[in-house]
Amino acid sequence: MEEVETFTSRIGLNYVISNFVSTFYTVSILLIWISLTYLILKKVYAYFVPSNWNPKGKHVYITGGSQGLGKSLAIQLAKLGADITIVARKIEVLRLASDEIKAARISEKQKVNYVVGDVSSNESAINALKEATRLVGRCPEYVFTIAGSSIPGYLLNLDVKQYETQMKLNYLGTVYTIKEASRLMLEANVKGKLITCSSLAALVGFIGYSAYSPSKHAVRGFSEILRQEMLLYDIDVHCLFPGSILTEGFNEENKIKPKITLELEGTDGMTPEAVARESIKGLSKGETFIVCEPLGEIFLACGLGFLPCNNLFTHAICIGLSWIVCPALRLYSDFKVKQERNQNLKQKDKLKKN
Ligand SMILES: *[C@@H]1O[C@H](CO)[C@@H](O)[C@H](O)[C@H]1NC(C)=O
Repeated sequence: MEEVETFTSRIGLNYVISNFVSTFYTVSILLIWISLTYLILKKVYAYFVPSNWNPKGKHVYITGGSQGLGKSLAIQLAKLGADITIVARKIEVLRLASDEIKAARISEKQKVNYVVGDVSSNESAINALKEATRLVGRCPEYVFTIAGSSIPGYLLNLDVKQYETQMKLNYLGTVYTIKEASRLMLEANVKGKLITCSSLAALVGFIGYSAYSPSKHAVRGFSEILRQEMLLYDIDVHCLFPGSILTEGFNEENKIKPKITLELEGTDGMTPEAVARESIKGLSKGETFIVCEPLGEIFLACGLGFLPCNNLFTHAICIGLSWIVCPALRLYSDFKVKQERNQNLKQKDKLKKN
């Protein structure tokens, strides 16, 4: 009798637990191995298989093309043989950039032009496209809306004017150019590409970005709808989701960023060249939403809605990883914010006592 009891309890608990634990470990280790092998194979594959998107001889139009990501895209696409038109507000900066882009050409025949314009104005955005079409002799085939800015700060410290400014440049600036460009493409029967620029900040939201992030969410939403709408005309729509890009603007921004935002985000980032390279890679693979770094893949995987994923296998792995990474990031950032709150309270107390 006693023996039977021991046997059942062994079966009932210890056996099940130890079996479960060992299965769990085996599966976890297997998954990690598969992921690692996959990532390595992907790198090897990308190294040997060249891009199949060919912008050679095409007219590429880039807003915000005089510096940062816009300029790097222009240079790299000039290296691939495209005609380039860049648009920005400052003529001196445009001139310098266009010299750099000209130097990157592979043939003297490639046209490199610049147009002075403020894409956050409807009129100016339309005129810039008109001018680009006149200069090159045909409308752009690939349109990149990279112009944008970031104004970090707390809700209570920002002026509503700054919310309007962010929407006007980042979101409406995108709409003005894309609307006119798609009209021109349709008129000229061009089956081109429209490439908008959102941000990782549209996939995850950190403290201090209540003006910037929503404007990039808007770009994301716009691009999502556009992808389907442009199927009507065989025009491809892509949206870029870069993280921090190491530019002058980023350095300036870091000076006015709330301390906690800076701490959470870090001063690390990718160079504009690297972001441009990854973006072109994504475009050549035909990806709709393009991220430039592994963490971006994870954020994108769990924020994709019903959009096509770039790679079913990576997607599945990233969804799995997001179960760990996302809560961990939230808990960590919440913890940091609460720490800041407690410090503020202490300081207030001190001031009161004095
Ligand atoms: C934008 O500009 C176009 C062309 O000048 C004009 O037809 C349109 O009404 C403008 N829209 C707004 C809201 O100003």
